[in-house]
Amino acid sequence: MTKGQVEVAEKYLDYHMEKYGFQSSNVTFIHGHIEKLGQAGIKNESYDNIVSKCFINLVPDKQQVLQEAYRVLKVRRRVRSITFEHQ
Ligand SMILES: C[S@@+](CC[C@H](N)C(=O)[O-])C[C@H]1O[C@@H](n2cnc3c(N)ncnc32)[C@H](O)[C@@H]1O
Repeated sequence: MTKGQVEVAEKYLDYHMEKYGFQSSNVTFIHGHIEKLGQAGIKNESYDNIVSKCFINLVPDKQQVLQEAYRVLKVRRRVRSITFEHQ
């Protein structure tokens, strides 16, 4: 992931708040690598869910990704990974 991708995502926060009727945003974008969530400041047992849409499949060290996911998720841990295959 690049900082530029995060900047583009942040540009659309106001658009989506207005479109879906929110007064404030409940979304935070964090720049980092999925296999190094600690470097991005993500603490132990701090999240309920992880959703990956075509991310985990791109990382060579999937064991490290899953170890990090296990570390940052709360007790009822849940990881959802979706990958599309191109034909
Ligand atoms: C196929 S795109 C999918 C993006 C988005 N989920 C979508 O469906 O449009 C894969 C994304 O994974 C990001 N990516 C690749 N390796 C990554 C890593 N190790 N950690 C975090 N993001 C990564 C890339 O920057 C890219 O944005």
